[in-house]
Amino acid sequence: MAEESSNWIVMVTAKSPTNIAVIKYWGKRDETLILPINDSISVTLDPDHLCTTTTVAVSPAFQSDRMWLNGKEISLSGHRYQNCLREIRQRASEYEDEKRGIRISKEDWGKLHVHIASYNNFPTAAGLASSAAGFACLVFALGKLMQVKEDLGALSAIARQGSGSACRSLYGGFVKWVMGNDVTGKDSIAVQLASEKHWDDLVIIIAVVSSRQKETSSTTGMRESVETSTLLHHRSKEVVPKRIVQMEEAIANRDFASFSKLTCTDSNQFHAVCLDTCPPIFYMNDTSHKIISYVEKWNQYEGTAQVAYTFDAGPNAVLIARDRKTAGHLLQRLLFYFPPNVDLSSYVLGDKSILQEAGVESLKDIEGLPSPPEVKDNVAPKRYPGDVSYFICTRPGRGPVVLTGEDQALLDPKTGLPK
Ligand code: ADE
Repeated sequence: MAEESSNWIVMVTAKSPTNIAVIKYWGKRDETLILPINDSISVTLDPDHLCTTTTVAVSPAFQSDRMWLNGKEISLSGHRYQNCLREIRQRASEYEDEKRGIRISKEDWGKLHVHIASYNNFPTAAGLASSAAGFACLVFALGKLMQVKEDLGALSAIARQGSGSACRSLYGGFVKWVMGNDVTGKDSIAVQLASEKHWDDLVIIIAVVSSRQKETSSTTGMRESVETSTLLHHRSKEVVPKRIVQMEEAIANRDFASFSKLTCTDSNQFHAVCLDTCPPIFYMNDTSHKIISYVEKWNQYEGTAQVAYTFDAGPNAVLIARDRKTAGHLLQRLLFYFPPNVDLSSYVLGDKSILQEAGVESLKDIEGLPSPPEVKDNVAPKRYPGDVSYFICTRPGRGPVVLTGEDQALLDPKTGLPK
Protein backbone atom coordinates (compact mmCIF):
# COMPACT_ATOMS: atom_id res chain seq x y z
CA MET A 1 0.00 0.00 0.00
CA ALA A 2 2.11 2.89 1.25
CA GLU A 3 5.76 2.50 0.44
CA GLU A 4 7.74 4.27 3.16
CA SER A 5 5.35 6.02 5.50
CA SER A 6 1.65 5.77 6.23
CA ASN A 7 0.94 9.49 6.46
CA TRP A 8 0.08 10.10 2.84
CA ILE A 9 -3.36 11.34 1.78
CA VAL A 10 -4.89 11.09 -1.69
CA MET A 11 -7.89 13.29 -2.35
CA VAL A 12 -10.34 14.46 -5.02
CA THR A 13 -12.71 17.45 -5.00
CA ALA A 14 -15.77 17.67 -7.26
CA LYS A 15 -18.66 20.05 -7.83
CA SER A 16 -22.16 18.84 -8.82
CA PRO A 17 -25.42 20.48 -9.83
CA THR A 18 -28.93 20.00 -8.58
CA ASN A 19 -31.85 19.38 -10.94
CA ILE A 20 -35.56 20.10 -11.25
CA ALA A 21 -37.93 17.46 -12.60
CA VAL A 22 -40.32 18.59 -15.35
CA ILE A 23 -41.89 15.12 -15.54
CA LYS A 24 -42.03 14.10 -11.90
CA TYR A 25 -40.67 11.09 -10.04
CA TRP A 26 -43.18 10.11 -7.35
CA GLY A 27 -43.42 6.54 -6.08
CA LYS A 28 -40.97 3.65 -5.62
CA ARG A 29 -41.43 0.02 -6.59
CA ASP A 30 -38.40 -0.95 -4.44
CA GLU A 31 -37.63 1.14 -1.35
CA THR A 32 -34.12 -0.21 -0.70
CA LEU A 33 -32.74 -0.03 -4.23
CA ILE A 34 -34.78 3.16 -4.89
CA LEU A 35 -36.48 1.98 -8.08
CA PRO A 36 -39.24 4.27 -9.40
CA ILE A 37 -42.67 3.39 -10.80
CA ASN A 38 -42.22 5.69 -13.81
CA ASP A 39 -39.59 7.43 -15.95
CA SER A 40 -38.88 11.09 -15.14
CA ILE A 41 -37.23 14.00 -16.97
CA SER A 42 -35.31 16.91 -15.46
CA VAL A 43 -33.37 20.05 -16.25
CA THR A 44 -29.96 20.34 -14.59
CA LEU A 45 -29.50 23.73 -12.92
CA ASP A 46 -26.32 25.75 -13.44
CA PRO A 47 -23.83 24.77 -10.68
CA ASP A 48 -22.43 28.34 -10.80
CA HIS A 49 -25.55 29.26 -8.83
CA LEU A 50 -26.64 26.09 -6.99
CA CYS A 51 -24.17 23.32 -6.27
CA THR A 52 -22.59 20.88 -3.89
CA THR A 53 -18.81 20.72 -3.50
CA THR A 54 -17.42 17.51 -2.03
CA THR A 55 -13.87 16.47 -1.17
CA VAL A 56 -13.16 12.77 -0.61
CA ALA A 57 -9.85 11.60 0.81
CA VAL A 58 -8.21 8.31 1.66
CA SER A 59 -5.24 7.59 3.92
CA PRO A 60 -3.87 4.60 5.85
CA ALA A 61 -3.86 6.95 8.85
CA PHE A 62 -7.68 7.29 8.86
CA GLN A 63 -9.31 5.18 11.59
CA SER A 64 -12.90 5.09 10.25
CA ASP A 65 -15.13 6.45 7.47
CA ARG A 66 -16.20 9.99 8.47
CA MET A 67 -18.25 12.74 6.86
CA TRP A 68 -18.77 16.46 7.51
CA LEU A 69 -21.78 18.16 5.89
CA ASN A 70 -21.68 21.97 5.85
CA GLY A 71 -18.97 21.84 8.53
CA LYS A 72 -20.80 19.53 10.95
CA GLU A 73 -19.87 15.87 11.41
CA ILE A 74 -22.72 13.53 10.42
CA SER A 75 -23.12 9.76 10.67
CA LEU A 76 -22.42 7.59 7.63
CA SER A 77 -24.23 4.61 9.15
CA GLY A 78 -27.46 5.12 7.15
CA HIS A 79 -28.07 2.55 4.39
CA ARG A 80 -28.07 5.24 1.67
CA TYR A 81 -24.46 6.24 2.41
CA GLN A 82 -23.42 2.62 3.06
CA ASN A 83 -24.86 1.45 -0.27
CA CYS A 84 -23.01 4.16 -2.23
CA LEU A 85 -19.70 3.48 -0.44
CA ARG A 86 -20.00 -0.30 -0.91
CA GLU A 87 -20.93 -0.08 -4.61
CA ILE A 88 -18.03 2.29 -5.41
CA ARG A 89 -15.50 0.22 -3.42
CA GLN A 90 -16.57 -2.91 -5.34
CA ARG A 91 -15.66 -1.17 -8.60
CA ALA A 92 -12.38 0.40 -7.45
CA SER A 93 -9.26 -0.26 -9.50
CA GLU A 94 -5.55 0.16 -8.91
CA TYR A 95 -4.13 3.63 -8.21
CA GLU A 96 -0.48 4.52 -8.60
CA ASP A 97 1.41 7.77 -7.99
CA GLU A 98 5.03 6.93 -8.78
CA LYS A 99 6.33 10.36 -7.76
CA ARG A 100 4.89 10.09 -4.26
CA GLY A 101 5.57 6.35 -4.03
CA ILE A 102 1.94 5.49 -3.45
CA ARG A 103 0.27 2.38 -4.80
CA ILE A 104 -3.26 1.31 -3.84
CA SER A 105 -4.31 -2.10 -5.13
CA LYS A 106 -7.91 -3.15 -5.84
CA GLU A 107 -7.95 -5.04 -2.52
CA ASP A 108 -6.46 -2.11 -0.54
CA TRP A 109 -9.48 0.08 -1.39
CA GLY A 110 -11.71 -2.23 0.65
CA LYS A 111 -9.51 -1.75 3.76
CA LEU A 112 -8.80 1.98 3.55
CA HIS A 113 -11.12 4.45 5.25
CA VAL A 114 -12.43 7.63 3.63
CA HIS A 115 -13.00 11.15 4.92
CA ILE A 116 -15.70 13.18 3.15
CA ALA A 117 -16.45 16.90 3.45
CA SER A 118 -19.42 18.32 1.59
CA TYR A 119 -20.79 21.82 1.30
CA ASN A 120 -24.02 23.01 -0.31
CA ASN A 121 -23.86 26.64 -1.51
CA PHE A 122 -27.56 27.03 -0.68
CA PRO A 123 -29.46 26.39 2.56
CA THR A 124 -30.04 22.62 2.96
CA ALA A 125 -33.38 23.43 4.57
CA ALA A 126 -34.58 25.57 1.63
CA GLY A 127 -36.10 22.52 -0.08
CA LEU A 128 -33.89 22.77 -3.16
CA ALA A 129 -33.07 19.07 -3.69
CA SER A 130 -29.76 19.24 -1.85
CA SER A 131 -29.60 15.46 -1.55
CA ALA A 132 -29.71 15.17 -5.37
CA ALA A 133 -26.62 17.37 -5.77
CA GLY A 134 -25.08 15.83 -2.65
CA PHE A 135 -25.25 12.15 -3.60
CA ALA A 136 -24.34 12.87 -7.24
CA CYS A 137 -21.25 14.72 -6.02
CA LEU A 138 -20.32 12.04 -3.49
CA VAL A 139 -20.54 9.20 -6.02
CA PHE A 140 -18.78 11.20 -8.76
CA ALA A 141 -15.90 12.21 -6.45
CA LEU A 142 -15.51 8.70 -4.95
CA GLY A 143 -15.56 7.23 -8.47
CA LYS A 144 -12.67 9.51 -9.48
CA LEU A 145 -10.72 8.83 -6.27
CA MET A 146 -11.10 5.05 -6.52
CA GLN A 147 -10.41 4.93 -10.27
CA VAL A 148 -13.83 3.48 -11.14
CA LYS A 149 -13.80 2.79 -14.88
CA GLU A 150 -17.57 2.52 -15.41
CA ASP A 151 -19.43 5.19 -17.40
CA LEU A 152 -21.71 7.92 -16.00
CA GLY A 153 -24.78 5.71 -16.55
CA ALA A 154 -23.40 3.05 -14.18
CA LEU A 155 -22.41 5.76 -11.67
CA SER A 156 -25.94 7.17 -11.90
CA ALA A 157 -27.33 3.78 -10.78
CA ILE A 158 -25.12 4.06 -7.67
CA ALA A 159 -26.08 7.69 -6.95
CA ARG A 160 -29.73 6.58 -7.31
CA GLN A 161 -29.24 4.34 -4.26
CA GLY A 162 -28.33 7.44 -2.22
CA SER A 163 -31.23 9.60 -3.41
CA GLY A 164 -33.43 8.74 -6.40
CA SER A 165 -33.25 12.12 -8.13
CA ALA A 166 -29.44 12.24 -7.60
CA CYS A 167 -29.02 9.93 -10.60
CA ARG A 168 -30.21 12.76 -12.89
CA SER A 169 -27.55 15.15 -11.52
CA LEU A 170 -24.74 13.08 -13.10
CA TYR A 171 -25.47 14.84 -16.41
CA GLY A 172 -25.90 18.43 -17.50
CA GLY A 173 -28.73 19.79 -19.64
CA PHE A 174 -31.86 17.67 -20.09
CA VAL A 175 -31.88 14.23 -18.48
CA LYS A 176 -34.18 11.21 -18.39
CA TRP A 177 -34.17 8.71 -15.51
CA VAL A 178 -35.22 5.46 -17.18
CA MET A 179 -37.19 3.43 -14.62
CA GLY A 180 -35.82 0.07 -15.92
CA ASN A 181 -37.28 -3.41 -15.39
CA ASP A 182 -34.51 -5.42 -13.78
CA VAL A 183 -34.95 -6.42 -10.11
CA THR A 184 -31.30 -5.53 -9.43
CA GLY A 185 -31.86 -1.95 -10.63
CA LYS A 186 -28.94 -2.09 -13.03
CA ASP A 187 -31.06 -0.67 -15.87
CA SER A 188 -32.61 2.09 -13.72
CA ILE A 189 -30.18 4.77 -14.86
CA ALA A 190 -29.99 8.34 -16.09
CA VAL A 191 -29.41 9.19 -19.75
CA GLN A 192 -28.70 12.62 -21.19
CA LEU A 193 -31.35 13.77 -23.69
CA ALA A 194 -29.53 16.99 -24.68
CA SER A 195 -26.70 19.09 -23.28
CA GLU A 196 -27.25 22.48 -21.63
CA LYS A 197 -26.08 24.14 -24.87
CA HIS A 198 -28.95 22.63 -26.86
CA TRP A 199 -31.51 25.06 -25.39
CA ASP A 200 -29.60 27.93 -23.82
CA ASP A 201 -32.33 30.60 -24.16
CA LEU A 202 -34.13 29.29 -21.10
CA VAL A 203 -33.88 31.23 -17.84
CA ILE A 204 -34.96 29.71 -14.53
CA ILE A 205 -36.11 31.75 -11.53
CA ILE A 206 -36.65 29.95 -8.24
CA ALA A 207 -38.88 31.61 -5.66
CA VAL A 208 -37.86 30.32 -2.23
CA VAL A 209 -41.19 30.64 -0.46
CA SER A 210 -41.32 31.37 3.27
CA SER A 211 -42.86 28.48 5.14
CA ARG A 212 -43.42 27.69 8.79
CA GLN A 213 -44.85 24.29 8.09
CA LYS A 214 -42.80 21.12 8.53
CA GLU A 215 -43.28 19.19 5.33
CA THR A 216 -43.81 15.46 4.93
CA SER A 217 -40.49 14.02 3.68
CA SER A 218 -40.49 12.81 0.07
CA THR A 219 -39.72 9.25 1.22
CA THR A 220 -42.75 9.15 3.53
CA GLY A 221 -44.99 11.02 1.10
CA MET A 222 -44.16 8.67 -1.78
CA ARG A 223 -44.77 5.58 0.33
CA GLU A 224 -48.16 6.85 1.45
CA SER A 225 -49.11 7.80 -2.14
CA VAL A 226 -48.12 4.33 -3.43
CA GLU A 227 -50.22 2.72 -0.69
CA THR A 228 -53.34 4.87 -0.97
CA SER A 229 -53.61 6.93 -4.19
CA THR A 230 -55.47 5.36 -7.11
CA LEU A 231 -54.61 8.47 -9.16
CA LEU A 232 -50.88 7.67 -8.77
CA HIS A 233 -51.29 4.26 -10.38
CA HIS A 234 -53.31 5.72 -13.26
CA ARG A 235 -50.62 8.40 -13.63
CA SER A 236 -47.63 6.02 -13.71
CA LYS A 237 -49.25 3.54 -16.12
CA GLU A 238 -51.43 5.65 -18.42
CA VAL A 239 -50.25 9.26 -18.23
CA VAL A 240 -46.48 9.46 -17.73
CA PRO A 241 -45.41 7.08 -20.56
CA LYS A 242 -47.17 9.33 -23.12
CA ARG A 243 -45.87 12.53 -21.50
CA ILE A 244 -42.29 11.24 -21.56
CA VAL A 245 -42.48 10.78 -25.35
CA GLN A 246 -44.06 14.24 -25.78
CA MET A 247 -41.52 15.91 -23.47
CA GLU A 248 -38.57 14.33 -25.28
CA GLU A 249 -39.99 15.69 -28.54
CA ALA A 250 -40.60 19.17 -27.05
CA ILE A 251 -36.99 19.30 -25.80
CA ALA A 252 -35.54 17.99 -29.10
CA ASN A 253 -37.51 20.68 -31.02
CA ARG A 254 -37.04 23.44 -28.40
CA ASP A 255 -40.83 23.74 -28.52
CA PHE A 256 -41.54 26.00 -25.54
CA ALA A 257 -45.35 25.90 -25.89
CA SER A 258 -45.37 22.12 -25.57
CA PHE A 259 -42.57 22.04 -22.95
CA SER A 260 -44.43 24.56 -20.82
CA LYS A 261 -47.82 22.83 -21.08
CA LEU A 262 -46.34 19.45 -20.15
CA THR A 263 -44.25 20.89 -17.28
CA CYS A 264 -47.16 22.75 -15.65
CA THR A 265 -49.66 19.92 -16.17
CA ASP A 266 -47.30 17.34 -14.74
CA SER A 267 -46.51 19.45 -11.67
CA ASN A 268 -50.24 19.96 -11.09
CA GLN A 269 -50.92 16.22 -11.42
CA PHE A 270 -48.17 15.41 -8.95
CA HIS A 271 -49.80 17.75 -6.41
CA ALA A 272 -53.21 16.24 -7.24
CA VAL A 273 -51.72 12.82 -6.36
CA CYS A 274 -50.59 14.30 -3.04
CA LEU A 275 -54.18 15.45 -2.40
CA ASP A 276 -55.40 11.98 -3.43
CA THR A 277 -53.14 10.41 -0.79
CA CYS A 278 -54.68 9.35 2.52
CA PRO A 279 -54.17 11.40 4.66
CA PRO A 280 -53.72 14.14 2.02
CA ILE A 281 -50.34 15.85 1.68
CA PHE A 282 -50.13 19.61 1.08
CA TYR A 283 -46.77 20.72 -0.28
CA MET A 284 -47.86 23.98 -1.89
CA ASN A 285 -49.12 26.91 0.17
CA ASP A 286 -51.10 30.11 -0.56
CA THR A 287 -48.01 31.81 -2.01
CA SER A 288 -47.38 28.84 -4.35
CA HIS A 289 -51.02 29.01 -5.50
CA LYS A 290 -50.77 32.77 -6.08
CA ILE A 291 -47.67 32.29 -8.25
CA ILE A 292 -49.52 29.68 -10.36
CA SER A 293 -52.44 32.06 -10.86
CA TYR A 294 -50.18 35.00 -11.84
CA VAL A 295 -48.31 32.87 -14.40
CA GLU A 296 -51.51 31.33 -15.82
CA LYS A 297 -53.13 34.76 -16.15
CA TRP A 298 -50.06 36.24 -17.85
CA ASN A 299 -49.70 33.32 -20.30
CA GLN A 300 -53.41 33.60 -21.12
CA TYR A 301 -53.12 37.37 -21.69
CA GLU A 302 -50.15 36.92 -24.06
CA GLY A 303 -51.89 34.11 -25.95
CA THR A 304 -48.61 32.10 -25.97
CA ALA A 305 -46.71 30.47 -23.13
CA GLN A 306 -44.13 32.83 -21.62
CA VAL A 307 -43.27 30.94 -18.45
CA ALA A 308 -43.64 27.39 -17.13
CA TYR A 309 -43.96 26.58 -13.42
CA THR A 310 -43.15 23.47 -11.48
CA PHE A 311 -43.20 22.64 -7.75
CA ASP A 312 -41.50 19.75 -5.95
CA ALA A 313 -42.28 18.41 -2.48
CA GLY A 314 -42.42 21.88 -0.92
CA PRO A 315 -43.83 25.37 -1.57
CA ASN A 316 -40.94 26.78 -3.69
CA ALA A 317 -41.80 27.74 -7.26
CA VAL A 318 -39.41 26.91 -10.09
CA LEU A 319 -40.27 29.19 -13.01
CA ILE A 320 -38.82 28.59 -16.47
CA ALA A 321 -38.93 31.58 -18.84
CA ARG A 322 -38.66 31.12 -22.61
CA ASP A 323 -35.79 33.66 -22.93
CA ARG A 324 -33.90 36.43 -21.09
CA LYS A 325 -36.29 39.17 -22.11
CA THR A 326 -39.25 37.21 -20.78
CA ALA A 327 -37.27 36.44 -17.61
CA GLY A 328 -36.88 40.21 -17.11
CA HIS A 329 -40.64 40.65 -17.40
CA LEU A 330 -41.18 37.71 -15.05
CA LEU A 331 -38.83 39.17 -12.42
CA GLN A 332 -40.64 42.54 -12.67
CA ARG A 333 -43.90 40.77 -11.90
CA LEU A 334 -42.43 38.72 -9.06
CA LEU A 335 -40.89 41.82 -7.45
CA PHE A 336 -44.16 43.68 -7.93
CA TYR A 337 -46.23 41.02 -6.11
CA PHE A 338 -43.54 40.03 -3.60
CA PRO A 339 -41.50 43.15 -2.79
CA PRO A 340 -38.45 42.62 -0.56
CA ASN A 341 -38.22 43.26 3.18
CA VAL A 342 -34.44 43.09 2.87
CA ASP A 343 -31.90 44.76 0.60
CA LEU A 344 -32.09 43.87 -3.08
CA SER A 345 -28.64 42.25 -3.21
CA SER A 346 -29.70 39.56 -0.73
CA TYR A 347 -33.17 39.18 -2.29
CA VAL A 348 -32.25 38.36 -5.88
CA LEU A 349 -29.40 35.83 -6.00
CA GLY A 350 -27.63 33.89 -8.76
CA ASP A 351 -27.47 35.53 -12.18
CA LYS A 352 -28.03 39.15 -11.17
CA SER A 353 -27.99 40.31 -14.80
CA ILE A 354 -31.68 39.34 -14.92
CA LEU A 355 -32.28 42.36 -12.63
CA GLN A 356 -30.90 44.62 -15.38
CA GLU A 357 -33.12 42.81 -17.86
CA ALA A 358 -36.03 43.73 -15.55
CA GLY A 359 -34.80 47.36 -15.36
CA VAL A 360 -34.55 47.12 -11.56
CA GLU A 361 -31.50 48.55 -9.80
CA SER A 362 -32.86 49.64 -6.43
CA LEU A 363 -35.70 49.24 -3.94
CA LYS A 364 -37.06 52.52 -5.33
CA ASP A 365 -37.37 50.92 -8.78
CA ILE A 366 -39.47 48.16 -7.20
CA GLU A 367 -41.78 50.65 -5.47
CA GLY A 368 -42.33 52.29 -8.85
CA LEU A 369 -43.21 49.09 -10.74
CA PRO A 370 -46.60 49.37 -12.48
CA SER A 371 -49.33 46.72 -12.18
CA PRO A 372 -48.81 44.06 -14.83
CA PRO A 373 -50.99 44.80 -17.91
CA GLU A 374 -52.91 41.51 -17.56
CA VAL A 375 -54.46 42.91 -14.36
CA LYS A 376 -57.64 44.88 -14.96
CA ASP A 377 -56.98 48.66 -14.73
CA ASN A 378 -59.63 49.42 -12.16
CA VAL A 379 -58.41 47.01 -9.46
CA ALA A 380 -55.09 47.64 -7.73
CA PRO A 381 -53.61 44.18 -7.12
CA LYS A 382 -52.54 43.24 -3.61
CA ARG A 383 -48.83 42.93 -2.88
CA TYR A 384 -47.30 40.48 -0.41
CA PRO A 385 -44.01 41.61 1.14
CA GLY A 386 -42.36 38.85 3.16
CA ASP A 387 -44.10 35.92 1.46
CA VAL A 388 -40.99 35.06 -0.58
CA SER A 389 -37.64 34.70 1.25
CA TYR A 390 -35.51 35.24 -1.87
CA PHE A 391 -35.21 34.52 -5.60
CA ILE A 392 -32.43 32.64 -7.39
CA CYS A 393 -31.92 33.37 -11.09
CA THR A 394 -30.25 30.54 -12.97
CA ARG A 395 -30.30 28.53 -16.21
CA PRO A 396 -29.77 24.98 -17.50
CA GLY A 397 -26.21 23.95 -16.60
CA ARG A 398 -23.46 21.38 -16.84
CA GLY A 399 -22.94 18.11 -15.01
CA PRO A 400 -20.32 17.30 -12.31
CA VAL A 401 -16.69 18.34 -12.72
CA VAL A 402 -13.46 17.70 -10.82
CA LEU A 403 -11.93 20.80 -9.18
CA THR A 404 -8.14 20.75 -9.34
CA GLY A 405 -7.16 23.81 -7.29
CA GLU A 406 -5.79 22.89 -3.86
CA ASP A 407 -7.61 25.91 -2.41
CA GLN A 408 -10.91 24.39 -3.60
CA ALA A 409 -10.52 21.28 -1.41
CA LEU A 410 -12.64 21.15 1.74
CA LEU A 411 -10.21 18.84 3.61
CA ASP A 412 -6.75 19.80 4.79
CA PRO A 413 -4.21 17.88 2.65
CA LYS A 414 -2.01 17.27 5.72
CA THR A 415 -4.57 16.19 8.34
CA GLY A 416 -7.51 15.00 6.21
CA LEU A 417 -9.82 17.02 8.49
CA PRO A 418 -12.12 19.89 7.43
CA LYS A 419 -10.19 23.14 6.78
N1 ADE B 1 -27.90 15.79 1.84
C1 ADE B 1 -28.01 17.11 1.72
N2 ADE B 1 -26.88 17.65 1.27
C2 ADE B 1 -26.01 16.63 1.09
C3 ADE B 1 -24.65 16.55 0.64
N3 ADE B 1 -23.99 17.62 0.26
N4 ADE B 1 -24.07 15.33 0.59
C4 ADE B 1 -24.76 14.25 0.95
N5 ADE B 1 -26.02 14.26 1.38
C5 ADE B 1 -26.66 15.44 1.45
